[in-house]
Amino acid sequence: MVNFKTIKDELEIYTYDEMDGIANLANFSSILFHHLGDIAWAGFYLLKDDELVLGPFQGRPACTRIRFGEGVCGTAWKEGETQRIYDVTKVENHIFCDNNTRSELVIPLYNKEEFVGVLDLDSYKVGRFSEEDEMHLEELVELFMEFSWR
Ligand code: SME
Repeated sequence: MVNFKTIKDELEIYTYDEMDGIANLANFSSILFHHLGDIAWAGFYLLKDDELVLGPFQGRPACTRIRFGEGVCGTAWKEGETQRIYDVTKVENHIFCDNNTRSELVIPLYNKEEFVGVLDLDSYKVGRFSEEDEMHLEELVELFMEFSWR
């Protein structure tokens, strides 16, 4: 059982008073990677020059650039909505950075109304992300964007 209260507390401790945005994204990815369980990759893609570019993350090396509408991340950008994929092998529009990935959750990041990037979580387990996880993670992302995005 994931303790989202612990994640929220750590997020506050490590990021609320820190004014460097990269440092905050790095700690957010680490907190998620270590607390969620069954996570293969946790990190960010940030919007730069009309592409999503790899940002701070935990896990194996990953593809560096994703275009609008491409893959699960590019779809989250295009649709402006969280993408929760039960089994990525059943989805055509998925970019495999790691062939062993089986499920994925991508949450778009908005600074006020402006799209700035995505949080991407991958697991080697099919169906790792529940509707409840999605809800809690969206809440954490909202807190992060309000108090820790720089
Ligand atoms: N699977 C993602 C690409 C990023 S890696 O998983 C870290 C996608 O389909 O957009």
